[in-house]
Amino acid sequence: MSHVEQRISTSVLVIGTGGSGLRAAIELAENGVDVLAVGKRPKSDAHTSLAAGGINAALATMDADDSWQQHAADTIKESYFLANPHTVQIVTEGARRGIEDLERYGMPFQREDDGRISQRFFGAHTYRRTAFAGDYTGLEIQRTLVNRAAQLEIPILDSVYVTRILVQGNTVFGAYGFDINDGTRYLIHADAVILAAGGHNRIWRRSSSRRDENTGDSFRLAVEAGARLRDPELVQFHPSGIIEPQNAAGTLISEAARGEGGILRNALGERFMSKYDPERMELSTRDRVALACYTEIKEGRGTPNGGVWLDVSHLPRETIMTRLPRVYQTMLELQMLDITKDPIEIAPTAHYSMGGVWVRPEDHGTDVDGLYAIGEASSGLHGANRLGGNSLIELLVFGRIVGQAAAEYSAGLEAQRRSPAAVQQARAEVDDLLASDGRENVRALQRAIRDTMTEHAGVVRDDVGLRAGLAELADIETRMADIGIHPDIAGFQDLAHAFDLKSAALAARATLEAALERRETRGAHNRSDYPHTDPALQVNLVWSPTSGVVREEIPPIPDEIATLIGGEVSTEGKLVE
Ligand code: FUM
Repeated sequence: MSHVEQRISTSVLVIGTGGSGLRAAIELAENGVDVLAVGKRPKSDAHTSLAAGGINAALATMDADDSWQQHAADTIKESYFLANPHTVQIVTEGARRGIEDLERYGMPFQREDDGRISQRFFGAHTYRRTAFAGDYTGLEIQRTLVNRAAQLEIPILDSVYVTRILVQGNTVFGAYGFDINDGTRYLIHADAVILAAGGHNRIWRRSSSRRDENTGDSFRLAVEAGARLRDPELVQFHPSGIIEPQNAAGTLISEAARGEGGILRNALGERFMSKYDPERMELSTRDRVALACYTEIKEGRGTPNGGVWLDVSHLPRETIMTRLPRVYQTMLELQMLDITKDPIEIAPTAHYSMGGVWVRPEDHGTDVDGLYAIGEASSGLHGANRLGGNSLIELLVFGRIVGQAAAEYSAGLEAQRRSPAAVQQARAEVDDLLASDGRENVRALQRAIRDTMTEHAGVVRDDVGLRAGLAELADIETRMADIGIHPDIAGFQDLAHAFDLKSAALAARATLEAALERRETRGAHNRSDYPHTDPALQVNLVWSPTSGVVREEIPPIPDEIATLIGGEVSTEGKLVE
């Protein structure tokens, strides 16, 4: 089969059309820089559109004492001191500007009667600093950015699957891919590449990501280009994913439900958070609430379906309809359940990759010249426990900064690299997969990885399980050599799934190997065989296939932030089982 190959040149290529990719592209276009954005799913439906409850900035519209320094202190403390303080400072200090940018583009934030942007509580924030649009915040942000990109006439190809980042001598020069619908190949030459293709939480069986998104693409693309990953084992399990129907298991029930006063109960009717965090109760940190739900279920106090109850039915109907409209709709659509009357059955769901591609804090450049990573693809802000609402602001802040950095990098180039050999390798990789006619089914192998990760690298892990996971993964990797790819009249999805599978396998390996090395309990990483936090492991774990796991020191916290970090973060009561 021969395929048309489309050749395109641009100054900066953005891979991923979610919030971070679009914000970077907007920055470039507003500064007159040639930019092209590509993605594997319709831009209006990028994963950002699922983000629900809100976006953080210390605007102090509701609580006058809030400050970016306090936001930074909360973020670092609740990261269990694994967040990079420099990254945290950049995001929290730049957050106000991020919100102003959105307002400038027309974002319809919820407002108080006097016009102030409303802000609500999210778990473990000292003040109300989560701005929102009902519980459709991500959807409104995505719409706003898509509209702004359209005004700027930014070219967006949102059915192009990138298979490889093109590199010559550790310098990026573009990417290779194909159109998911008709198989047209794309050879895209670019001075700089911004990787904004999300994380890897869809490699667990119950996930708040939908099919075919967050399959670890960023991890594989970056690593194959020569970059490294940081803390891939640090995966946030959100406490509230729905359990049924099975094909929607993991769908998110926003933390906004707890922020607005929702209550958690086990099957015995007990408000169990009083055992785990009596002060903060349902508004404790996500790692604690997720672990609490997990423990209740595991110890036999869960529902017959293996969940616990999240109840908002005591809230005024008006609150539910205006501040939780998506939860209301989702439950009606998926379960015909009216949340104004009945509780929601929930269990932890894989939600967010807190680790990601290793980047410099200041410009999110990677180990590869001209290659940048942002959003969930990147790392540095969240450490071992992400505060809800911090990821949306991160993409606004770093979208702008990385757009500027890539523009400067492109302007400073004295020559554009090319490598026919690298292009040929990328072409051959696609050709070989298209020619493969083995007996293994790609979807079945994806499922096998999700089963392995769920079984062995879920909310609670241990040495035996992680090693068993690695053995199962090795078996899956062997079977991957015998896959059969069969694009059909409907398109080249099967080929895309094969690359998703490669990405999932790499992301799973990185996660398992790093999880094995992190012999402690810290934040979302619960090791039942190492139930305490180990001060010697207050480091980031950096992974590559060649060097394995290497420890990286975390810089000191600036005084103006450190003084606002109240008390120790203890793991007392965490692993109750
Ligand atoms: O629960 C939520 O609304 C999720 C927010 C977040 O992950 O930031």
